[in-house]
Amino acid sequence: MAGVIIVGAQWGDEGKGKIVDLLAEKADVTVRFNGGDNAGHTVIAGEKTFKFRNMPSGVLYPQKRVVIGNGCVINPKTLLSEIDALRREKIEPNLLISAHAHIILPYHIALDGAEEERKGKLAAGTTKKGIGPCYSDKAARFGLRFADLLDKAAFKAKLHTIHELKVAQIEKIYGKTFAQSEQEILAEYSGYADQLAKFIGDAGGAVNDAMAQRKNILFEGAQGTLLDIDHGVYPYGTSSNTTAGGACTGAGVGPNKISEVVGVVKVYTSRVGTGPLPTEISGDIADKVRDKGNEYGTNTGRARRIGWLDVVALKYARDVNGLTGLAFTRIDTLAGVSPVKLCVAYELDGEKITTMPQTAEELARCTPVYEEMPGWAEAPPAEWRKTAIRGMFAVPEEAKNYMRRISEYLNVPICIVSIGAGREDTIVIKDVFPNKPLAPP
Ligand code: IMO
Ligand code: MG
Repeated sequence: MAGVIIVGAQWGDEGKGKIVDLLAEKADVTVRFNGGDNAGHTVIAGEKTFKFRNMPSGVLYPQKRVVIGNGCVINPKTLLSEIDALRREKIEPNLLISAHAHIILPYHIALDGAEEERKGKLAAGTTKKGIGPCYSDKAARFGLRFADLLDKAAFKAKLHTIHELKVAQIEKIYGKTFAQSEQEILAEYSGYADQLAKFIGDAGGAVNDAMAQRKNILFEGAQGTLLDIDHGVYPYGTSSNTTAGGACTGAGVGPNKISEVVGVVKVYTSRVGTGPLPTEISGDIADKVRDKGNEYGTNTGRARRIGWLDVVALKYARDVNGLTGLAFTRIDTLAGVSPVKLCVAYELDGEKITTMPQTAEELARCTPVYEEMPGWAEAPPAEWRKTAIRGMFAVPEEAKNYMRRISEYLNVPICIVSIGAGREDTIVIKDVFPNKPLAPP
């Protein structure tokens, strides 16, 4: 048995989907533990590209169980569109949705837009999927959960109370109109209930049962450490716990079941949305990396902000997650940039610091202190694929030195190196599921 958590160590979009898909081969169950369709996890399997929003990225292995944990907030409509897309590829997901996961309703989406507008400088630049308002309702105990979809009378009664209140909020506080009546929502969600009922159940129980049977469980985080509601750059993050502790509360397992916590580290920084980003750069290098890496939001199409790798932020990610391994991604994207820079400290109000400041205001006043290292040469994708087959010794020396330097700073070993988008473009250094041999090819 092994329980492995995968988290984003930066501001999201680190390449978690690819790493989860890769590791899912040896997992028996993959569990998404936070977020909803604000996530965009791209997985390339052979000729096919899949973009998952709610669906755990381990779904491409036929028959393997995938679980949407109680820590998630799910828009049934986008989940159903993902199920449809998979069915078109002849994949029937073996999906279990926690009865305790919360449902995103149309008023959450309306409120997300209205709140962002009103927040002015405090707006995080959300994905406008209703994530924040849905988690707010969860905490305020106004939420509707997947269990409620199975009990239409209960759903109707709860919606009746909440709908009236939400319409008042949208119209009276924010001065917007909200056209969807209670009956319309009821009809729409009753249709979703019919299609999703067979997937809803006791997800925490199922994961614990699988662990009791000594199975391998992969916990898939969405977003990244610096977007965490508690540990991120508040208020410029998301509304869930994106960090390793969130895997336990968001899936319903005890911390003693976790054997590894792998932080996915993109070898540069990207950020979609607002808030301070000390290592942000603009100009030729940023444009080149953005274009080469297709750094545009999977969800919203927004151009991502680009920056150098931030070791101060990574050290923080190491600590709040308890990282036991690093999965580096996008070595191929940063190739051709030289020198490459590592931010190893900040200067804040004339003082050098090596820990994350406590507030967004202080972080905004930080200027990075860089260490420069020689970059590595560009190569076509086919060359990188050959490198992946040959293994770590074939990786350009400069890239190895760069990754080693980061690993030394963090005192966390490297377990995976990704040098391209496909499953094949990966070098696995440490097996996080050592108890199970790989299936023969
Ligand atoms: P994956 O899983 C990058 C950002 C948004 C915004 C803030 C809050 O693909 O890494 P929200 O809609 O969650 O209320 O937005 O968080 N954000 C992400 N940035 N990757 C993501 O997911 C993100 N999900 C949310 O841009 O700044
Ligand atoms: Mg993404």
